[in-house]
Amino acid sequence: MAKFEIQGNCQLKGELPVYGAKNAAMKMIAASILINGKVTLTNVPRISDIENLCLILEQLGAKISRDGHKLEIETNKLVNLNPDSKLVRMIRASVVLVGPLLARFGQVEIPHPGGDKIGSRPINLHLQAFRELGVIVAEEPNNYLFRKNGQIGNRVHFKKISVTGTENILLFACLQDHEIIIDNAAIEPEIIDLVEFLQKAGASIKIDGRRISICGKNQLQSVSHHVIPDRIEAGTFIVLAAAAKSQITITNLNPSHLTVFLDKLKEIGVQFDVGSNFIYIKKSPKLRACDISTAEYPGFSTDWQPPIGLLLTQAEGKSHITENIFENRLGYLKELQDMGAKVKLINNCQAEITGPTPLHGAVIKSLDIRSGATLLIAGLIAENKTIINHAENVDRGYEEIEKRLTKIGAKILRLQ
Ligand code: EPU
Repeated sequence: MAKFEIQGNCQLKGELPVYGAKNAAMKMIAASILINGKVTLTNVPRISDIENLCLILEQLGAKISRDGHKLEIETNKLVNLNPDSKLVRMIRASVVLVGPLLARFGQVEIPHPGGDKIGSRPINLHLQAFRELGVIVAEEPNNYLFRKNGQIGNRVHFKKISVTGTENILLFACLQDHEIIIDNAAIEPEIIDLVEFLQKAGASIKIDGRRISICGKNQLQSVSHHVIPDRIEAGTFIVLAAAAKSQITITNLNPSHLTVFLDKLKEIGVQFDVGSNFIYIKKSPKLRACDISTAEYPGFSTDWQPPIGLLLTQAEGKSHITENIFENRLGYLKELQDMGAKVKLINNCQAEITGPTPLHGAVIKSLDIRSGATLLIAGLIAENKTIINHAENVDRGYEEIEKRLTKIGAKILRLQ
């Protein structure tokens, strides 16, 4: 188990660049299975979830080379069709291997995917969508078995919006010989980036509101793509600057992906300037309480909810948080209570935060990627020293976080 030891009361200053979007890059790595040629991806973060996904592909027979943030992938000679169970159980994004493997080889066997423990995270919507297309899906005690059988249908309607569900069907549809329409699709910026990647590879895809139409091809060709900046990492860094009352310029981001987030910051009273690809956070005299309710894009992302919850412990008045996407994503608030935050947990998905409260150092634990990054910020603004157990959860989504934050003045040690 890795740990962070954080010295509190930090004063930060300087520039903090945002790296590429984990949840876009991982889907493009899975999509490389569809490509007959070389895939070149730049702006790919060096995080453990991506290393594990690359390992899965290598075990299937893919050739992958990495140079800094650049990845080159060739999947022409895959030898094994079923992804490694142990690795699949470690990352949620492994579920999107189903669409490409099924499209290319006609069948695939995979266990239930792992990932953050932020809710029950079923894959029933994926199974139902594949069944709607006529794919045979068997649910065995340890595995799901998917098999193409005869004619594939042309329409999928998601009764609930799912990011990886939409991506799975989108990737599968790219190699079918007719048009497939996905209704009630997720349209997060990471999905739009995946669509642009696929279009560059020759796929014919149109998006109209929540409808995605894909005209399949029997082959996609070599493609180079620069992954979009990670809007969740950008939001995390913005909260760091605002909570630490430090002047920091967050660079390499796309402000248009942060509109709803920045609107909430204005409501809270955070002062900032927005440039074409940066945001300069100023020292804000006073922060105000506000209410947050998470939703699918273009709503307020569930992944921003933990950092903003921390910021609200520093805002004056009563704030309310409603988590509408995952049923177990407020656990970090219990850790913040141990640091002195005034939090009333109304139920698993609703909380009331009363601020401002000074935080003090404590021994706490990272529960998942976003809660881990949030508690790291809490440690930086608290009095005295904080120890965060299970720092490896943060490494799954944020590249060398302690080294990057040390460059702007943070004092964080990694202990093994
Ligand atoms: N859901 C079902 N059945 C399914 C699929 C989803 O009931 O078959 C439910 C989920 O339980 C949840 C809701 O539908 O209540 C939405 O889940 P979705 O499928 O959209 O989430 P996901 O694809 O598993 C991705 C990101 C998450 C991000 C969510 C929401 C990846 C690998 N993960 O998860 O990212 O929070 O979309 O935007 O793309 C993170 O990066 O830290 C992270 C957790």
